[in-house]
Amino acid sequence: MDNHQIELTSYALETHSLNKEFLGFRAICDVNLRVRRGAIHALIGPNGAGKTTMFNLLTKFVSPSSGKILLNGKDITTASPASIAEQGMVRSFQISAIFPEMSVLDNVKIALQKRHRLSRNLFGSAKATQHLDDEAMALLSEVGLSRCARSLAKELPYGQRRSIELAATLAMDPQVLLLDEPTQGMGIEDVDLISRLIKKISANRTIVIVEHNLKVIANISDRVTVLARGSLLAEGTYAEVSKNAAVTSAYIGAAHG
Ligand SMILES: Nc1ncnc2c1ncn2[C@@H]1O[C@H](COP(=O)(O)OP(=O)(O)OP(=O)(O)O)[C@@H](O)[C@H]1O
Ligand SMILES: [Mg+2]
Repeated sequence: MDNHQIELTSYALETHSLNKEFLGFRAICDVNLRVRRGAIHALIGPNGAGKTTMFNLLTKFVSPSSGKILLNGKDITTASPASIAEQGMVRSFQISAIFPEMSVLDNVKIALQKRHRLSRNLFGSAKATQHLDDEAMALLSEVGLSRCARSLAKELPYGQRRSIELAATLAMDPQVLLLDEPTQGMGIEDVDLISRLIKKISANRTIVIVEHNLKVIANISDRVTVLARGSLLAEGTYAEVSKNAAVTSAYIGAAHG
């Protein structure tokens, strides 16, 4: 293996000259993203910068106009969304993916079942159900919800419902986890809860996070990439990019339209 290859594989996720046009509008322009394995890597930028489009591209929800996407050094540019998940990259579920009338435990079991691709029959057998119960309880314990396992999802406050979502996402056993605005709509206590949780679940995983709350980013991220109008504006630690004049003026420019 030459040096070039060794360098490539130290990144969990890379894009090379990634472009996305929507009917002639360049939403993503020549973005070279490099996410180190094991890092919490934030993607920030003003409204319309292209953050969600990047996530859609990375998870193959939309196809790039040109450029490449590599997962663990492997070209996934033309891979299907299902094969991306199989290769260990999972995007956080939306809150609507939680079944409010079901128990917290059953919500996680459904996600586990999906991963194990268990048939209905197997799910019905006592042994398989017990195994899923144990696995689901371990995940609930990881996100601090052991004591709420038997509650209906709808009975939990908002922050804890987002924790169910995280447990369901962890059920997919992701190596690379994409979180799109995990603290959106939360009060300060829930923001702290989810921040701590993200830090905790980042052990042995790579996390890419889009988040508007810059305090959260400052607290938990190892690296930050700043996008503005579809282009990569800056990359570094939070301390570095927050001092970058181009970054501050992009935010101020965006705020003043
Ligand atoms: N399907 C689409 N068709 C046309 N334009 C699109 C489409 N998806 C996104 N865009 C445009 O691409 C640009 C980037 O949008 P995107 O949603 O990725 O931004 P964002 O950084 O996630 O913004 P926000 O912080 O508001 O969530 C915007 O100008 C948006 O209008
Ligand atoms: Mg967005």
